[in-house]
Amino acid sequence: MSVLFVSNEENREDWLREIRAAAPEFQFLTADEVDDPSDVEFAVVARIGRGGLGGYPRLRAILSMWAGVEHLLADPALPPRIPIIRMVEPSLTRGMVEYVCCHVLNILLRTDCYPVKGWYHPQKRQPRFACGFPVGVMGVGVLGGACATALRQLGFPVNGWNRTPKKMPGIEMYSGAGEFDVFLNRSQVLVLLLPNTPETRAILNARSLRQLPPGASIINAGRGELIDDQSLLDVLEQGHLEKAVLDVFSTEPLPDDHPFRGHPKIIVTPHVASITNPKTAADVLSVNLRKLRDHEAVWPVVDRDRGY
Ligand SMILES: NC(=O)c1ccc[n+]([C@@H]2O[C@H](COP(=O)([O-])OP(=O)(O)OC[C@H]3O[C@@H](n4cnc5c(N)ncnc54)[C@H](OP(=O)(O)O)[C@@H]3O)[C@@H](O)[C@H]2O)c1
Repeated sequence: MSVLFVSNEENREDWLREIRAAAPEFQFLTADEVDDPSDVEFAVVARIGRGGLGGYPRLRAILSMWAGVEHLLADPALPPRIPIIRMVEPSLTRGMVEYVCCHVLNILLRTDCYPVKGWYHPQKRQPRFACGFPVGVMGVGVLGGACATALRQLGFPVNGWNRTPKKMPGIEMYSGAGEFDVFLNRSQVLVLLLPNTPETRAILNARSLRQLPPGASIINAGRGELIDDQSLLDVLEQGHLEKAVLDVFSTEPLPDDHPFRGHPKIIVTPHVASITNPKTAADVLSVNLRKLRDHEAVWPVVDRDRGY
């Protein structure tokens, strides 16, 4: 059974080696290696070029190597109706928990002030404690849920905001537009882990950023499109926000002359908050391929109308 493999990532050879080892009963082929397109039943893909999945008449499912799938949905030539399965794998989740907890703790402890302030660090004069420093997680899905749980275990009061109502032990949950402002008002650090959809684009804008308490900070590990860049610069420069940690940007790589670069209140990381690990992801892909081959249910299937 043939599986089309589409990736231009630097570590594509690692991926191929790992998935071939994890699922030896499938034949993984790059587009150049496919002799008969009607043999291809599944596609394992990172980024595809426009129309890159056209011309495979028996394609039954698309398995994404990434958690975010908006780049796939943006292709008007994407084969309709067949399921798209997002990547959920333990290393990706673990990496995001480490990134988010690291930056929330850095913000709480103002660690980046030490080199500037020396002995008279503000933490020494006005200590801040996790128990009095509420963190809001926007998008309490696979990644946001794991981050919310870890932050709670570190002693932070945690608020979560979702599209639909959800309960999570120890987390104060909010949902929908009606509870958005209350959620923001109560979040001293805001962690963005929403997908990029028509509903979430520029969800942090001049109005919503001002709903955060004075001196709040944000961490964006979701997608750059969630934030209106100029509004963020304005609230930082006007002193309403203390800090922004940004891993994702509307244009990537972030242009050299972008005002986020070198900004004294912004930390930029180059879309590295969490990265799929080919080894652990190959195990997930092999399980899902076998289920799909046997016509069993797989998870999580993207809702194309919702956009994630
Ligand atoms: N920076 C990185 O390195 C990196 C790595 C991996 C992923 N990511 C990003 O992280 C995102 C989240 O991944 P995930 O696996 O956690 O996704 P997920 O499990 O699908 O979770 C998405 C969450 O967002 C919520 N949501 C979606 N639209 C919303 C809206 N309009 N209003 C309020 N809440 C909304 C969903 O709420 P409901 O459940 O109520 O629908 C869900 O809880 C990905 O889409 C990707 O963009 C970034």
